[in-house]
Amino acid sequence: MSGTILVDHPLIKHKLSIMRKKETPPPLFRALLQEISMLLGYEVSRNLPLVDWDIETPVSKTSGYKLAGRKMCIFSILRAGEGLAQGLLDLIPTAKMGHVGLYRDPNDLHAVEYYFKAPDHLDERFNLVVDPMLATGNSAIAALDRIKRAGAKNITFLCLLAAPEGIKAMNEAHPDVQIYTAAIDEKLNEKSYIVPGLGDAGDRIFGTL
Ligand code: URA
Repeated sequence: MSGTILVDHPLIKHKLSIMRKKETPPPLFRALLQEISMLLGYEVSRNLPLVDWDIETPVSKTSGYKLAGRKMCIFSILRAGEGLAQGLLDLIPTAKMGHVGLYRDPNDLHAVEYYFKAPDHLDERFNLVVDPMLATGNSAIAALDRIKRAGAKNITFLCLLAAPEGIKAMNEAHPDVQIYTAAIDEKLNEKSYIVPGLGDAGDRIFGTL
């Protein structure tokens, strides 16, 4: 898949397999998602720019580093994005958060915005947009359209599972956006669920099955 980075790690594979199991209850599902999001966040943040920083240890002066520029922004696509955002915020507590809420109009199926809140100066930030499931790509594409309209330029998309159909749609709509995922599954079924997938991520995070 062009432009897609598969974060391939034994710990992620092990934890993700437990998440996929249908009997895994919401508290364990949430905890594993949080752990995986920190492992994914480690990879996603690998190329963040640094500046030199003169510091003093208890022993001597030395030069260290700090993250350059404005704080990054983590955008959660509601509601399942919340499950992925929490671990990232634990990893990078100084990050700002944005939220995008969209629902699908039952008549013409286009994405309707019901909530949008973002920090200022998006054009100067590294913006990480998160949603656990990249299925058809429709909501991710609509969210990215909205986030770009708000000014964001440097954008990466992070998910837990991606379907080939969603990756293709994203690459076509937003070729400038790098996708990171923990797994690329086989396909979508007739209800647009990822196969084998893990079911409805929002329901499994929040116990609304
Ligand atoms: N959203 C989900 O939560 N699960 C899927 O399989 C597809 C979209």
